[in-house]
Amino acid sequence: MLLSSREMLLKAQRDGYAVPAFNIHNMETLQVVVETAESMGSPVIIAGTPSTVESYAGPVYIEAMAQAAAANCHVPIAIHMDHFEDPDVIKKNILIGFKSCMIDASKHVFKENIAIVKDIVEYAHRYDAVVEAELGVLGGQEDNLNVSEKDAMYTNPDDAVEFVTATGIDSLAVAIGTAHGLYKGEPKLDFDRLKEIRDIVDIPLVLHGASDVPDHLVQKAISMGICKVNVATDLKIPFANAVKAFFVENPDASDPRKYMTPGKVAMEAVVRHKITVCGSANRY
Ligand code: 13P
Ligand code: ZN
Ligand code: NA
Repeated sequence: MLLSSREMLLKAQRDGYAVPAFNIHNMETLQVVVETAESMGSPVIIAGTPSTVESYAGPVYIEAMAQAAAANCHVPIAIHMDHFEDPDVIKKNILIGFKSCMIDASKHVFKENIAIVKDIVEYAHRYDAVVEAELGVLGGQEDNLNVSEKDAMYTNPDDAVEFVTATGIDSLAVAIGTAHGLYKGEPKLDFDRLKEIRDIVDIPLVLHGASDVPDHLVQKAISMGICKVNVATDLKIPFANAVKAFFVENPDASDPRKYMTPGKVAMEAVVRHKITVCGSANRY
């Protein structure tokens, strides 16, 4: 069954693990995520950005594919709008059946961010949907920032309390030094900041940009209160590399059932590994 991510994240928070949120783009990637999660007994969040859900696949396709995938599953599955900025688009997709969203209003000033997010929370909760929002900026390479730059960009713990209280959001994405995509060196996560936030914010916390973060750092973040771990790039690269390798071996191939399969196999290994890192196997 497709659920909201509310219960999943609260259970993860209680029991000290994280629910993985995997970014998908099409039927094949959605199948890999759901089938692997089911085989490992892991709750899972299927995430799509606006460029996937709106521009590439269409929200009706994504919702229908997720319903089809979930119909044969025992694990809880949620479809999640990741990094959506347009409130009207979020509302439209909630009516289609999405029960989980991230409203990314972090580029707006604090008060405006609060107003935009609060409006979405009020709407979403009427439809049993949940809302994640971000405070702070999750940029490209952030690991070489000095202290004042960090204070400007990373999540401020006191602001986080005010933000959570004023908006009524269900989970908070924290900016603590991760970035989308790959890192130049090893990323430096601000665990002191995470602890400060965890001590005074009681809702589930979300880690974006988890690709290319060493496993032990992801696990440390989970042990300190991260309940949802977002992974995109670490799935895309091996999928593409496996398809490229297949075409090198089989330059005349044209059957998608043949050339997509090695991509799915390569991606499955990564999904399996990330579920293990999150500690979410056999948790339902
Ligand atoms: P990565 O591409 O670093 O995995 O980031 C994923 C993410 O944060 C999706 O919201
Ligand atoms: Zn993200
Ligand atoms: Na990353």
